[in-house]
Amino acid sequence: KFPKKYFSGIQPTGAIHLGNYLGAIVQWVKLQDAGNNLTLSIVDLHSLTIPQKSLELPQKILEMTATLLACGIDPQKTVLFQQSTVPQHTELYWYLGCISTMARLGHLPQFKEKSANLKDIPLGLFTYPVLQAADILAHKATHVPVGEDQLQHLQLSQDLVRMFNSRYGNIFPIPKSLVTETARIRSLREPEKKMSKSDTDSKSCIYLTDTEDSITKKIKKAVTDFTSEVTYDPLNRLGVTYDPLNRLGVSNLITIHSALTGKSPEAICKEAKGLNTAKYKDVVAADVNHALAPIRRKLNEYLEDPQYLLDVLNSGKHKAIDITEKTLTEVRYSLGI
Ligand code: ADP
Ligand code: NA
Repeated sequence: KFPKKYFSGIQPTGAIHLGNYLGAIVQWVKLQDAGNNLTLSIVDLHSLTIPQKSLELPQKILEMTATLLACGIDPQKTVLFQQSTVPQHTELYWYLGCISTMARLGHLPQFKEKSANLKDIPLGLFTYPVLQAADILAHKATHVPVGEDQLQHLQLSQDLVRMFNSRYGNIFPIPKSLVTETARIRSLREPEKKMSKSDTDSKSCIYLTDTEDSITKKIKKAVTDFTSEVTYDPLNRLGVTYDPLNRLGVSNLITIHSALTGKSPEAICKEAKGLNTAKYKDVVAADVNHALAPIRRKLNEYLEDPQYLLDVLNSGKHKAIDITEKTLTEVRYSLGI
């Protein structure tokens, strides 16, 4: 009864790294280009659950907009908007908050993790999964592309829909998760960890805004398992083999290489036959630069035209308000207010 619709959000964190790009943005572009109904929200309200520098936030929002456009999000096809400009989200958040329980929210693993080291826990950190539910429900999304770490939050959204619908009528679809087989990208310097903006070593992350030179340097400094000083190598440990369990570093480079070129890891290893890992890094650096150069060029072009970016967000805001106000009209009526 509900038309298929995808919804996802991303925090305005400024620079986007390869993990975010390959793990999230590439999937959105694929969904969009396959003709799906997709809505993307730059979730600035969520970013306020930890202190933000208010003078920097407007630029970060523009940078995220420019990044999404440069990666292929087309605002004619996809509804792209800034969360805080659509107050229907926070209104629905209140209604959903009134049917959520403290016990349910307190058990969410992300809350436990994020609050563990805080002596004063902000209420927003506790309730933000309810705002996530409101984001999804206000748009009546049927499908939500999520990382595995967000599955419990989506389950909360599903529970809230069941509860709301059983009390007030069949207003919302139950949103399904869409866990795609996306590449998990690892840190370049500490490949046992995932690539993350919270990594303190900036050489661990490749950002879409990095220069060609800096990308090449980072890849050359990436940790691989053996050094070129090893000379006895019966198992081809100096060579390029894809072994994600035992050779995290090289395999991570192959994963990145594969995701950006569309070649399979097997094909990559075959082509790299006879190369040691140091030489292979040159190949990876060249191909990563080839893939990222056009994105970086577009990103910089968009950033030179902030008025265009503001226009895109403004038009997305109007579309999002039209859609969510229809939902909220039904919700208010069913609540009796
Ligand atoms: P970060 O870990 O840098 O803080 P976020 O948690 O903000 O990144 O994640 C934003 C999106 O990017 C999520 O959809 C998440 O699943 C994806 N993502 C983040 N890091 C990686 C990674 N190393 N590999 C694949 N996907 C990732
Ligand atoms: Na994170």
